[in-house]
Amino acid sequence: MAKKILHIVCSPRKQQSVSNQLGRAIVDQINIKYPESEIKVRDLTDDFPHYDTLATSLRYTPRHLWTPDQTKVAEFTEALIKELQEADILVIDSPMHNFGIASTLKAYFDYVVANGQTFRMTPQGDVGLLKNKVAYIAFSSGFMFSEGVYAPMDHNTTYLKDILRFIGVENVQVYRAEGMAYYGYAALERAIENIYIN
Ligand SMILES: Cc1cc2nc3c(=O)[nH]c(=O)nc-3n(C[C@H](O)[C@H](O)[C@H](O)COP(=O)(O)O)c2cc1C
Repeated sequence: MAKKILHIVCSPRKQQSVSNQLGRAIVDQINIKYPESEIKVRDLTDDFPHYDTLATSLRYTPRHLWTPDQTKVAEFTEALIKELQEADILVIDSPMHNFGIASTLKAYFDYVVANGQTFRMTPQGDVGLLKNKVAYIAFSSGFMFSEGVYAPMDHNTTYLKDILRFIGVENVQVYRAEGMAYYGYAALERAIENIYIN
């Protein structure tokens, strides 16, 4: 059965980037398993706006008082959330940047993690509203993070698992092209060989 895939791309190295090559290999494998899947790319690399004063102001201003500029940002946010809600499968490229996720990917979550749309606050506990989705993380890093001295400093995949679970995406699978500084492209090849879509 064809699926809707949302591929979130964020490395400033674009198509040459390791995370993007791994992400595209994951998308290819999904497409083999679910032929004719619809693939949408959300490119956060260069023109994606930071979560700035205007964007933040939406949360603190009643809707009927929004200015035309605020309404424009609201429409942009709605579009991001809609494509996220509609996707069956998320493929998220995630290069390690200073022990965390890329700042553009963080800005993306600042837009889409929204009360009433992707999660709901309740006194009994907050509830993730995205259901029945699988996320594949295409992680890449210079150092090793699955083991060794830097393992406790992986604030990238651990953050992604937490934030995705918070909005309801429980099934998060991580593929790692790690240790690029030591192993070069062999690390990417190994990660691609290990892709398994279940
Ligand atoms: C701004 C920046 C910060 C980085 N910080 C780290 C880091 O903290 N740890 C690490 O292992 N690699 C770090 N790297 C190296 C990248 O994670 C590594 O080159 C990775 O393969 C980049 O993925 P990409 O090709 O998808 O952009 C950093 C690279 C950049 C550009």
